[in-house]
Amino acid sequence: MYRYLCWLLTILSVKHYTFSIPTVPSNWWQYPYPYDVLSLAESQEKLQNENLIDSYTESTEQSYGQRRLRNCLDPKIGRLGRKVRYGCSKRRNKSRRLDGLCNDFENPASGSLYYRFGRNVPLNATVRDEKNLYNPNPRDISRTLMKRKNFIPVTIVNILVTGWVQFMTTDWFDSGKNDRSRHFKVPIRDDDPDFYDTMEIPMTRQDSCGNSKDYDTYQNTVTHWWDASQLYGISKQINRRIRTRKDGKLKLTSNNRLPIDPSNGVPITGSSLNWWVGLGIFHIIWTREHNYVCNMLKERNPTWNDEMLYNTGRLIIAAVIAKIHTLEWTTAILQNDVAKLGLKSNWYGITPIEIARGNATLAAWLIKQFPQFSNGVLGAVGNPKNIRGVPYSLTQDFIAAYRLHPLLPDEFEVRSHQTDILVKRYDMKDAVFEKAESVFEENSMEDLIYTFGNDYPGAMTLHNYPNFLRNLDIPATSLRGKGNVDMATIDILRDRERGMPRYNAFRRLFHMTPINKFEDLTTNPTHAEELRHMYNNDVELIDFLIGSLAESPLPEGFGFSDTFFRIFTIMARRRLESDRFFTDDYTSEYYTQWGIDYIDDTYMKDILLRHYPSLASHLQQNVANVFIPWKSQTSLDKNFPYPLY
Ligand code: HEM
Ligand SMILES: *[C@@H]1O[C@H](CO)[C@@H](O)[C@H](O)[C@H]1NC(C)=O
Ligand SMILES: *[C@@H]1O[C@H](CO)[C@@H](O)[C@H](O)[C@H]1NC(C)=O
Ligand SMILES: *[C@@H]1O[C@H](CO)[C@@H](O)[C@H](O)[C@H]1NC(C)=O
Repeated sequence: MYRYLCWLLTILSVKHYTFSIPTVPSNWWQYPYPYDVLSLAESQEKLQNENLIDSYTESTEQSYGQRRLRNCLDPKIGRLGRKVRYGCSKRRNKSRRLDGLCNDFENPASGSLYYRFGRNVPLNATVRDEKNLYNPNPRDISRTLMKRKNFIPVTIVNILVTGWVQFMTTDWFDSGKNDRSRHFKVPIRDDDPDFYDTMEIPMTRQDSCGNSKDYDTYQNTVTHWWDASQLYGISKQINRRIRTRKDGKLKLTSNNRLPIDPSNGVPITGSSLNWWVGLGIFHIIWTREHNYVCNMLKERNPTWNDEMLYNTGRLIIAAVIAKIHTLEWTTAILQNDVAKLGLKSNWYGITPIEIARGNATLAAWLIKQFPQFSNGVLGAVGNPKNIRGVPYSLTQDFIAAYRLHPLLPDEFEVRSHQTDILVKRYDMKDAVFEKAESVFEENSMEDLIYTFGNDYPGAMTLHNYPNFLRNLDIPATSLRGKGNVDMATIDILRDRERGMPRYNAFRRLFHMTPINKFEDLTTNPTHAEELRHMYNNDVELIDFLIGSLAESPLPEGFGFSDTFFRIFTIMARRRLESDRFFTDDYTSEYYTQWGIDYIDDTYMKDILLRHYPSLASHLQQNVANVFIPWKSQTSLDKNFPYPLY
């Protein structure tokens, strides 16, 4: 073993000051400990140096002049943009703005509403390949590689995970209302059971900067920051509707649910996009928690007005959500010691002794061999801001990696939290958009949370795409317009439309090991054969999403592909370390001391028990992570929420 490690180290330490992974035809998770940790840390650094790319190259020759950027925000779209004035007042810098401007005083527009999505691969690799737009036909892929025959569950997590992640993505990004004047026409085969002739899919909303460059750019129609914009909205108009204007609080109905907008039947909240109960649960819980935080703040600061209570409450809520996502959601879906260490490093940081899992001899050896780890890895939160020389934005690649629709079921049941007896069964198609509210009417929150806390979501694999989404009737009142669409077809086509590299090209550009043959992608011979047939024996054609769904085996304890994971990790740290409210301004002056302590001490379970105390009999001490099936947590996990070696 020792000789093996020495050999490995020799390979790893070629070239520059530290070791170089890409030349080694292997993946981080295939190395023995501690090389898996080191390999991941090293490639993370390389990605941070080379793969954070802003898409405003028009001004690279100058610094980011405010005037230039103002032109590239959208001053015209709807009411939201009216007239974007930065007006970054350094005196009034204490709270998050609805439009996300002025977080970074050097680059005031970065991360704001309408700021462009960046990229994680070089811009010249992000050009739409027009002639292969329908090659292979995305509807064929949907029918032969994605269609769910039998529900394939993922059993390491529960279905709360699905609603939670959608709750997160609607905070981070939205490509906006599609452009109804320009359509893709996907050819439909004669034997298609659901569509006829062609499937018309409106194109993505055009970049209003009028980008004339030879790469494709798109804007975010919500803020890129982890600022809970899905709760608070991105405009004054929305924000005004959700607030009570008293004591900083948000509106709830008398039975502690969200008020319904009569014009479209969905709740009034920051973002009600693609509404269903799994998502709605979290909007309700977090609206209640916001009001709880406001109560606590008012008790401690009796002179504060509505605005001060609201703004401080929002800061605190956004941060505790970010912590729960980092230390609870992600560690549930990635039950892997190396990944958990990485996640802890993002929030609190990790020491050499933690990297060495408590082994002092190994820690000393690590520091000697890899002096760059002598301080471990500093946490992003509470430390100095670091944008790594690139104005902050989320990326198109990041969106592509969050196309997690297979996590959704086609049907779900609700059982009594008191007796476990079946109360009702629903088809998803009858429980989305405006139809979701009837599920809340017919069931208690306790029963919904209890059932979702124990039932499984779908696995992120081939042949497991929810069928209700493969023929989805989007209501006319929805923001995305009406009509029947196949979301599986759309997921494939959008990546191609937006110049997302295909799977193998992406892996190369992201310094990951590319594949040479279909068998390198999957150990499932049937899948390899199906892929070979669909992609005409050409591994370079495999779509990003399809390659990611096909990847097997996965690293131990992983609920999705390593390719997705790599994008998540670089952007997870970036969301935290680029945001002054998580770094320079993560102080008691901004958050109050009570706020900072609350963020440290509060986990998702505390919040569930605060608002739904009758769940206590199901949330005994051994149930530590509420995103893992509750009944499966039979013994105490002393490693929650991260390994203490
Ligand atoms: C009932 C639940 C859901 C419905 C009805 C739904 C429907 C949709 C629709 C209609 C779109 C826009 C399609 C287009 O580009 O034209 C979309 C996009 C998307 N959805 Fe879902 N979705 C649901 C749940 C989820 C979940 C659980 C996730 C997990 C993260 C997710 C992730 C995404 C992503 C990443 C996009 C792309 C967004 C963008 O381009 O900005 N969705 N979905
Ligand atoms: C924020 O405002 C305070 C005064 O209210 C000021 O001392 C501080 O320098 C400002 N921060 C920045 C980054 O300008
Ligand atoms: C993109 O640019 C890099 C260097 O600037 C070059 O090596 C590469 O070949 C280019 N890629 C494409 C797809 O044009
Ligand atoms: C600590 O690490 C050293 C060096 O890798 C190893 O030889 C030793 O067995 C480890 N000790 C324990 C208790 O695991």
